[in-house]
Amino acid sequence: MKILSGIQPSGQLHIGNYFGMMQTMIAHMESDELYVFIVDLHALTSVRERDRLAGGTLEAAADFLALGLDPDKCTFWVQSDVPEVCELTWVLSTIAPMGLIERCTSYKDKVAKGLSSSHGLFSYPVLMAADILLYQAEQVPVGKDQKQHLEVARDLAIKFNNEYGQTFVVPEPAINESTAIVPGLDGQKMSKSYGNTLPIFLEGKELKKRVMAIATDATPVEEPKNPHTCSLYKIMKLFATSVRMAEIHNLYVNGGAAYGYLKLELLDLLNDTFGAARQKKAELLSDPVMLRAILARGRDKARAKAMVTLDLVRDRVGLRY
Ligand code: ADP
Ligand code: TRP
Repeated sequence: MKILSGIQPSGQLHIGNYFGMMQTMIAHMESDELYVFIVDLHALTSVRERDRLAGGTLEAAADFLALGLDPDKCTFWVQSDVPEVCELTWVLSTIAPMGLIERCTSYKDKVAKGLSSSHGLFSYPVLMAADILLYQAEQVPVGKDQKQHLEVARDLAIKFNNEYGQTFVVPEPAINESTAIVPGLDGQKMSKSYGNTLPIFLEGKELKKRVMAIATDATPVEEPKNPHTCSLYKIMKLFATSVRMAEIHNLYVNGGAAYGYLKLELLDLLNDTFGAARQKKAELLSDPVMLRAILARGRDKARAKAMVTLDLVRDRVGLRY
């Protein structure tokens, strides 16, 4: 199966990114044809500082590799290194109905959160469709927030195929229901742009401060609490064993759950889960020449695939004379 997904280098990657997408992608490495990329063109819709975008791209590459992605077992590259994606975006935008793109909620949500509105931010889903269709991906693992964008990609693939003849694979979203929306410190969806994250690679006091800031209610320790409305409980569930979670569930429903202690337990779990990857990331970042060489190899592999699809598209629509 051809599996593809991308991540924006727009800030420190967090446990929502990890459980929503990265972990699933890494798990497919042995068994599937895997495409993983860093979507810097998408990040340009929100990151306007040159060094933050460039540095973030290299850092996101180090994140994936430190977490276990093997670039020899997949195609791993930076989106803007394959310029064919921009041409396909244009072709797709000529068939994308305005209403389809206007219905996408992420544009309105981002503007409501303070991002400046731009044509790039508005047409973000068309670039994402081009990302997916260019590589003829069959399955796209994402968090639930991206479901609507996947529908746009599917609609555009179907429309193009109907108008010009069979060209694109129609991709399927792969959303893991148990990790579809990882809550942030404030209980909203965890997101780099909401400043409510537990970054995978944060350490020491900084990480402790974030964990302690997870919003909990004021119910006294001995009183029963509702685990299903508690972000701390939902986050712990991602890390603790099922035996420990059964004990914690019991403390919630029968009384005895002390938020402060549970937060310290979560802090230990975070450190145990990501400790080794943090060290590996530091090593990788100390050798940017090697990181760039890995990404250049990925670019060449990705570009070869992209050119085949784009050639076909040009021929289908008449950009060939
Ligand atoms: P962010 O919202 O933090 O900027 P991205 O848009 O870069 O994250 O998302 C990268 C991947 O991580 C996407 O597949 C997205 O669906 C997933 N993801 C992001 N936040 C979460 C979350 N809180 N829960 C589950 N998946 C998430
Ligand atoms: N829009 C996605 C996000 O914000 C990132 C993305 C861009 C993507 N292109 C993609 C995800 C293609 C999957 C496939 O998370």
